[in-house]
Amino acid sequence: MPNKRSWAEPWKIKMVEPIKMTTKEERLTAIKEAGYNTFLLKSEDVYIDLLTDSGTNAMSDRQWAGLMLGDEAYAGSRNFYHLAETVMEYYTYKNLVPTHQGRAAEHILSTIMIKDGDFVPGNMYFTTTRLHQELAGGTFVDVIVDEAHDTESEHPFKGNVDLIKMQNLIDEVGADKIPYVCIATSVNMAGGQPIALQNLKDLRALCDSYDIPIVHDMTRVAENAYFIQQREEEYRNKTVREIVHEICSLTDHATMSSKKDALVNIGGFLATNDEDVFMKAKNMVVMYEGLHTYGGMSGRDMEAVAIGIKESVSDNHMASRVGQVQYLGNKLIEYGIPIVMPIGSHGVFLDAKKFLPHLSQDMLPSQTLASEIYIENGVRTMERGVVSAGRNKETGEHYFPKLELVRITIPRRVYTQAHMDVVAESIAAVYERRNEIKGLKFVYEPEYLRFFQARFSPITN
Ligand code: F0G
Repeated sequence: MPNKRSWAEPWKIKMVEPIKMTTKEERLTAIKEAGYNTFLLKSEDVYIDLLTDSGTNAMSDRQWAGLMLGDEAYAGSRNFYHLAETVMEYYTYKNLVPTHQGRAAEHILSTIMIKDGDFVPGNMYFTTTRLHQELAGGTFVDVIVDEAHDTESEHPFKGNVDLIKMQNLIDEVGADKIPYVCIATSVNMAGGQPIALQNLKDLRALCDSYDIPIVHDMTRVAENAYFIQQREEEYRNKTVREIVHEICSLTDHATMSSKKDALVNIGGFLATNDEDVFMKAKNMVVMYEGLHTYGGMSGRDMEAVAIGIKESVSDNHMASRVGQVQYLGNKLIEYGIPIVMPIGSHGVFLDAKKFLPHLSQDMLPSQTLASEIYIENGVRTMERGVVSAGRNKETGEHYFPKLELVRITIPRRVYTQAHMDVVAESIAAVYERRNEIKGLKFVYEPEYLRFFQARFSPITN
């Protein structure tokens, strides 16, 4: 009898979507036309699409059935009430404002809460989150632990807040200049790294003594909860659902991109326990999204989110979701490929500085590596380095982040382990020829969130 017991997906496949394999010549043409930016590739030209885990999930038969229960009333749709009840029951927040996706909630919350000249601490930046903080007049301050910026550190909770950095900021600028601290669960830009519940409790105590609210970017809260169950002694016997509940209960407001954890293709919301913020958000959502009982979503889509939230906190779902990511990460480790450790919850992050040490950061190593991985075998990944980091709004200079990464992001319930084998082998093939790889340079740079639409060309010589 084997003493190891494997996980397996708690579902079977009912419908399949064919994907296309291409030749190397076709891929070379496609990536050139896309300006060497994987965001600009046509999905049809992609074989295995690991660009993002956002909106790329496979819905369950329950969710598809839920679509048929869509109540498309302009006002007061029954699906809105189902979603609001679900958010309260699973995530604790009393008031719900639906939005079409996460960044719309960030826009509304940032505009309501941030004043010109404010400082907004957070456990590492996220692209859209920081942009909305800046557009509202705030300055983002990174208060994540130093280990988060070190790809080799095996710290189990690299999403933790460094409470000394937080205290220093309070001492320096004063609590009245800090409208809130933004805490992401399963920190995306750090490589899908969790925050510990103990750290969140300590942060809560610190914030309480200065009356600073906590905003929860809860995009991947269930994945974070799974890591807490696996790594934080006190929570070993708690369910993911219970841990999610406890995380949320320690925070005041939340922004959510339902396109991740909640297992749907579109959707998001702002949730809050504060009546004043709720009233303002309800008023603002009608300007930008739609009436406060649909906020840019259809009734059927709100129903799918409500069902997806319930599915997302299942322990078996999480074991296979995160298990698949770990499987791919461990394959890459076997090939000696440098990745961010520990392996994250939603993807494996290649360390492009170590993968392509001959390219300096201004030769855009992560952007280059993502395009080479596509050329190799049609696998689409994403840059998460200097291009994503953008420019400092004051000086106009590039931000040069310590982390120069390529994200291999795994959609939920979409690909099999055989796909993961192919991905690992393709990246290993790129690793073999890494010394021949030259960098890229910008040829077009949009003003906002440049990584989405920028175009590049190869550096020759
Ligand atoms: N916060 C985090 C941590 C995210 O990962 C995202 C989106 C958002 C907020 C914004 O949500 O896309 O629904 O507007 N992340 C996607 C990604 C784009 O690929 O990581 P959105």
